Amino acid sequence: MHLQKRVLVTGGAGFIGGFLCEALLERGHEVLCVDNFFTSTRRNIENLLDHKRFELMGHDVTFPLFVEVDEIFNLACLASPIHYQRDPIQTTKTSVHGAINMLELAMRVKAKILQALARGFTKIGQYPIVGLARALFGARAICQGAG
Ligand SMILES: NC(=O)c1ccc[n+]([C@@H]2O[C@H](COP(=O)([O-])OP(=O)(O)OC[C@H]3O[C@@H](n4cnc5c(N)ncnc54)[C@H](O)[C@@H]3O)[C@@H](O)[C@H]2O)c1
Repeated sequence: MHLQKRVLVTGGAGFIGGFLCEALLERGHEVLCVDNFFTSTRRNIENLLDHKRFELMGHDVTFPLFVEVDEIFNLACLASPIHYQRDPIQTTKTSVHGAINMLELAMRVKAKILQALARGFTKIGQYPIVGLARALFGARAICQGAG
């Protein structure tokens, strides 16, 4: 039997986020989905809106977030080249400020965090966010990149 956790999924209305929210609900967890709908719509997660363990919050991760959660999946990102090339400043803010805000939240509430990376950042060949996460969390930090 799984222990019920409260899980934050940023970018939760996106492609991976939507499926992840659904999978977490199926496993009996409470899900807080955070998204600013920059590249998605509520329609992507319409099937989850009435679920009693699902909560949707409109929020931009470039601003600090104060919530109580056990785990964080930070997937908020301008993942597609069409979007990140059109708005490089917002892309950088989301990837850098967003990651820092989520890492700080994880520190505050002692949550486990998975940090996804934008393709543009992983292509640089250096991993500043990975380095920051590892410095703060050591082996507890899991970083997933798009390569
Ligand atoms: N899709 C893939 O094949 C794939 C593979 C490997 C890694 N990834 C990584 O996984 C993550 C998610 O990918 P995806 O395909 O689900 O992307 P997606 O574009 O479908 O979803 C990203 C979501 O983040 C939201 N968002 C963007 N900026 C935000 C902000 N500032 N605040 C809050 N929400 C914001 C968007 O509105 C969108 O709903 C990305 O980091 C991506 O690089 C994706």
